Amino acid sequence: MKDLLIRPYRAEDAAHLAKVFHRAVRRSTGAHYSLVQRMAWSPRPGDGTDWHARLSEIETVVAELPSGPVGFMALNVEDSFVDFAYVDPSVRGQGVGAALYAVIEGRARAIGLSGLQTEASRVAEPFFRARGWVVLHRQVVKRRFIGLPNALMEKDFGVAEVAA
Ligand SMILES: CC(C)(COP(=O)(O)OP(=O)(O)OC[C@H]1O[C@@H](n2cnc3c(N)ncnc32)[C@H](O)[C@@H]1OP(=O)(O)O)[C@@H](O)C(=O)NCCC(=O)NCCS
Repeated sequence: MKDLLIRPYRAEDAAHLAKVFHRAVRRSTGAHYSLVQRMAWSPRPGDGTDWHARLSEIETVVAELPSGPVGFMALNVEDSFVDFAYVDPSVRGQGVGAALYAVIEGRARAIGLSGLQTEASRVAEPFFRARGWVVLHRQVVKRRFIGLPNALMEKDFGVAEVAA
């Protein structure tokens, strides 16, 4: 996609990314999640302060167009976990998620992680599967007392252990 920049998260992104999250949940997941489920997942556009606390403690990458941030994904290095994967509905399906993911997987490999896990929504499951991920098990997580089905997924990089 023309003019797309993938870069590290900055504090001033938080309010934009809170909106991207809310819009992605409300507008891009309706094929798999009911309105009640989507409302439980994201009741209202979040507060930038809350989001800064969540996104600054992990390695978050941001997809930016000249108009502003349009997506984000995050790597929690401590538990080899991909924590967020949200792209604004206005640019969904145009390669933004793929560009974010390439940076996240590249970073994970560069620092020597042997693989990654995530909890993928039903929307994101095919996206990860197409990138070599497998479903470990399906589960239902609770958000504000409402059940949301997702899948614990994993990608093993197949890094051979080097003998000492
Ligand atoms: C999942 C998500 C992050 C993907 O981002 P995106 O920018 O739309 O994805 P891309 O355009 O980069 O798609 C890359 C590839 O995955 C495929 N893909 C993306 N979403 C897909 C879906 N729901 N079903 C099937 N294929 C999908 C695309 O067709 C594309 O295939 P290609 O590389 O062969 O052309 C985005 O759609 C989103 O925010 N979804 C709603 C929120 C959500 O559920 N997030 C995940 C929480 S775990």
